[in-house]
Amino acid sequence: MIIIKDSFSIDKMKRAGQALATIFSSMVNVIRPGVTTLELNSWIVRELQANGLESQSKGYMEYKYSSCISLNDELVHGVPSAERILNEGELIKVDICAALDGYCADMTRMFIVGQPTDSLSHFVDVACQALNKGIEKARAGNHLSDISAAIQQEVERHGFGIIRDFAGHGIGCSMHEDPKIFNYGEPGKGPILQPGMTFAIEPMITIGHYDVYIADDGWTVKTVDGSLAAHIEDTIAVTDGDPIVLTRISKESGQS
Ligand code: MF3
Ligand code: CO
Repeated sequence: MIIIKDSFSIDKMKRAGQALATIFSSMVNVIRPGVTTLELNSWIVRELQANGLESQSKGYMEYKYSSCISLNDELVHGVPSAERILNEGELIKVDICAALDGYCADMTRMFIVGQPTDSLSHFVDVACQALNKGIEKARAGNHLSDISAAIQQEVERHGFGIIRDFAGHGIGCSMHEDPKIFNYGEPGKGPILQPGMTFAIEPMITIGHYDVYIADDGWTVKTVDGSLAAHIEDTIAVTDGDPIVLTRISKESGQS
């Protein structure tokens, strides 16, 4: 069942999203060669605390960390480690789901450590554009799979692979709610979107084949062929007009 949120709930989720977006905007200053992913996670822990945000990953199925940090061929659910030092040219994905007053926002951003190459920047850009195309379809009266189809079209137009094994999701007072939002599919299928639905939309793409597996740590999801993987995520609300991206800083919110 897809839970419809009232404007009070959406406002609460937006507060969580704006706080999370603010944290992500200062993260660029922390990500550089020589920093470990555990140090980055510690910085995130402090920032979440300073903003009154409660991590939703810590304690989830015994996961111990407040963020997932995935590098290069790691797609999602990478585990922060004191042994993993960031190197020049690596692709890093930082995924944080956090709640403010019990209302969640889920967000992932990618960064290239040090100097980006053109091909890496292009790959990252395609994932970002696919997310935007998906969000654009999150409108009342559209079908859920219109989001999925728009993402797939943008990704495949550039010849990249789309992950089948993981999907976006509804979100609210729980990190994961119905429905599952696949990043591929035919348009015109699934539930009709209504104002008050809130979704975490998260394209996951690969340069090579889309097959992934879970590594020995029980968490980290990696590509089978070792090719680079990209992931980006925003939490959005369907309205009777344009979708609201709760995890991007909006001018009206008084933050910038
Ligand atoms: N944003 C991630 C998701 O939607 C959060 C995963 S929490 C973890 O799946 F504990 F599974 F890592
Ligand atoms: Co998510």
